[in-house]
Amino acid sequence: MAAGRGTRMRSSTPKVLHELCGLPMVHWPIRAARAAGAARVIVVTSPGGELDAHLPEGVELAVQPVANGTGGAVAAAAALLGPEETVVVINGDAALITTGPLTALVAAHAAAGAGATVATIHAPDPSGYGRVIRDEHGAVLRIVETRSPGDATEAELAVDEINVGIYAFQGAALHAALPRLRTQNAQGELYLTDVLALVERAAAVDLQDPGLLVGVNDRAELARANETLQRRILDDHMRAGVSVVNPASTVVDAAVVIGQDTVLDAGVVLRGATTIGAGCHVGPQVTLTDCTLGDHVTVRHACGVEATAHDHVSVGPFAYLRPGTVLRERAKAGTFVEIKNSDIGPGAKVPHLSYIGDADVGEGTNLGAATITANYDGRTKHRTTIGRDVRSGVDVSFVAPVTVGDRAVTAAGSVITQDVPAGALGIARARQRNLEDYAPRQDADAQDGSGA
Ligand code: UD1
Ligand code: CA
Repeated sequence: MAAGRGTRMRSSTPKVLHELCGLPMVHWPIRAARAAGAARVIVVTSPGGELDAHLPEGVELAVQPVANGTGGAVAAAAALLGPEETVVVINGDAALITTGPLTALVAAHAAAGAGATVATIHAPDPSGYGRVIRDEHGAVLRIVETRSPGDATEAELAVDEINVGIYAFQGAALHAALPRLRTQNAQGELYLTDVLALVERAAAVDLQDPGLLVGVNDRAELARANETLQRRILDDHMRAGVSVVNPASTVVDAAVVIGQDTVLDAGVVLRGATTIGAGCHVGPQVTLTDCTLGDHVTVRHACGVEATAHDHVSVGPFAYLRPGTVLRERAKAGTFVEIKNSDIGPGAKVPHLSYIGDADVGEGTNLGAATITANYDGRTKHRTTIGRDVRSGVDVSFVAPVTVGDRAVTAAGSVITQDVPAGALGIARARQRNLEDYAPRQDADAQDGSGA
């Protein structure tokens, strides 16, 4: 269940679309449910349809016409639930749920033969959560909410066993109970938690992991949940053979793939659909978004967006790879280099102080310091095509569209506006002339002038 705009998030974005480790919050319980073997996943949404575009493939949708509480949310999905099915309900903000506790819940529910089973923990600070009320034999009677003063008695408030917002229901028992829910609270809501008092047999399973399961209700809890999920993601990578030098300063989104023996140095941020091969050294201080690196790639102090670097490429320090950059095997993008929408051939080097945009650079070519492609004439972008084994001197501008043939050379300081044939030297700069005795004449002029 997912709808409901979390007012405590203080946001124009629905609560469950706030991101945790690169995924909207609502993706996390869906992933856990699927990993635990859920045959179907139904998401309850609000009528605006704001969530629909942000949900993973294959989920079914049920629209809750008005936000009339968690009971109303499940009632909105009732038509999709078979009486023979075991229905697991997960709050959309139960972002930290994993397969293990879900499996344990369903097993305990089946073993108890219960109509409704709630997952609980004993919370060090239970304030704000629903409390599980048991009779003197330990049988579950009901859940009391504690949101508003007067919701619960002193004795009920003393209970530290809380509802984590995850339940298993026997389909038919749920169908029978939902129409009997009544609003009995200041919020005027139908509480799903009231179902426990309405079924013939209610059960609770203590998941015994207080760190595991808290709903995300504000941005402080969002940050804490993010930390927990981030640590899990990093632990998984480390167990799979990735070294993370300083986990506290490392950010790796959920969908990132990293090969064995790759080292993530301090300050690495890997976002979105980034894929990194084996034996790479990334960092310190590298941010990559939707990038693909092959094996044995080195990236230091750099920023990349939608860029690809093949095996044995070297990037940085202080490089910016923009969308459409492809660095072929053993290529290099060095210090203070920006590359955009360009294909840099195998072994080609852009070592220092360059901007290369909309260019194709052949194998083995070396672009001297401060080589610049002038790819934009004020209206349109044009391509620069540079062949194999070209040597551009320092401070050369290529004014696109322009083509430089294989093994050509361009002289330092040239502004290349015309094609350079293969093997030729292109020089495009004013010839130097020296004015003899210039400084003494300046001095003499200054002395004459001072008496005037
Ligand atoms: C709920 C439980 C509480 C439990 C806590 C655990 C109820 C009445 N209380 O409280 O016992 O301790 O979770 O985190 O269920 N939602 C809808 N439609 C609505 C209202 C809510 O889809 O009309 C969704 C929310 O988006 C959220 C989930 O239901 O995903 C839980 O709602 P929330 O308001 O966060 O419930 P809590 O007050 O946290
Ligand atoms: Ca909540």
